[in-house]
Amino acid sequence: MSALRRFESPHERGVSTILVGSDALKAAAPEISAWCQGRRVFLITSEQVGSLFEDAVRTLLGSSAAVETLIVPDGEEAKSVGVADGLWNEMLERGGKRDSRVIALGGGSVGDVAGFVAACFLRGVELAQIPTTLLAQVDASVGGKTAVDLPAAKNIVGAFHPPTWVIADTDTLTSLPQGELLSGLVEVVKMAAVLDASLFSEIEERLDSLLQSDPRALAWAVGESVRMKLEIVEQDPEESGVRRLLNFGHTLGHALETVLSYGSLRHGEAVAHGMRFALRLGSEMDLGGELPGRLESILDRMPLPPLPKDLSLAALLDAMRRDKKSTEFGTTWVLAERVGRGLMVDSLRWEQVGRTLEAFLASADE
Ligand SMILES: NC(=O)c1ccc[n+]([C@@H]2O[C@H](COP(=O)([O-])OP(=O)(O)OC[C@H]3O[C@@H](n4cnc5c(N)ncnc54)[C@H](O)[C@@H]3O)[C@@H](O)[C@H]2O)c1
Ligand SMILES: [Zn+2]
Repeated sequence: MSALRRFESPHERGVSTILVGSDALKAAAPEISAWCQGRRVFLITSEQVGSLFEDAVRTLLGSSAAVETLIVPDGEEAKSVGVADGLWNEMLERGGKRDSRVIALGGGSVGDVAGFVAACFLRGVELAQIPTTLLAQVDASVGGKTAVDLPAAKNIVGAFHPPTWVIADTDTLTSLPQGELLSGLVEVVKMAAVLDASLFSEIEERLDSLLQSDPRALAWAVGESVRMKLEIVEQDPEESGVRRLLNFGHTLGHALETVLSYGSLRHGEAVAHGMRFALRLGSEMDLGGELPGRLESILDRMPLPPLPKDLSLAALLDAMRRDKKSTEFGTTWVLAERVGRGLMVDSLRWEQVGRTLEAFLASADE
């Protein structure tokens, strides 16, 4: 039985086709090579990811296209205006045209910068995402958001540019370090926590297999996450309503990433702390039902790093106030009414958030 799942996601400029499963790369070969046929293809990747999968992608494309590999720094460092500028110049120099193709091969960092570069080059060239981290397969590669960072703020310059193809080959996850796997799992748990109670229960049951990188469990989790994310993105492509529920755990999560300087906590690790904090805010409003207990216990089963000690309350609050969604008075928090049911709350004042955060940080310092 082939475990391959195929999703078609319509958007205003066409349709994104998403293939998920073990051996998805091989299965996609005929269609991807046809898409690249006779064109210049810019394969954007990092040294580390390229050394693992560049050959497989070149084999997939066969001799149908002129493939130029462009290397970006590994991790969050790739997401800068300077790196994007370098890529645009390279693409122009190497004969990039309106009908060229961009293929992003790597985690969310490569995907975000390559997507942004594809969105702007000649006002937009078609893009394929080949995500190779769990986080990128379940989240970053789906939905068309692309961005780079400025020194003072993450993801602050970007564009919507839905990929023509997403090939989430879950076999690529076998080489992923455990920390990266956990970081992606946090996003899967997050989506279920605010969107889908029955999926949340299934994750509770399958968590041990997922933590052991069981290939079938991973293919299942990626497929279900993509299904869930697509439902939300299709309802709310511009992120003005229900899609904002996906920011559960991200308000404090992003502030932690900013304050600790990008890269010292992985994205999912920061989001895990952010979710625990959102649960506290919710509990103060008598929200959450069974979610706080069940979500805390899932997170406790995942060997995630503890909240760093001696974090500055003022710096975290400052980072949250500078968030694009914030106002003088407060910001919109994603909390949860109960398992599988997220809720947007904008009645919390900064003073109250500050008091709860102070207690939250103090409990980490104990
Ligand atoms: N656009 C979106 O909607 C969206 C959503 C969520 C996150 N993001 C962004 O994604 C980024 C984080 O992405 P990430 O967590 O994938 O991290 P990442 O892209 O930085 O990759 C993490 C590390 O994993 C390594 N790696 C990648 N694939 C591997 C593999 N198969 N085997 C072994 N090592 C591998 C990389 O070399 C890198 O060192 C953040 O910048 C975040 O803002 C974007
Ligand atoms: Zn996230």
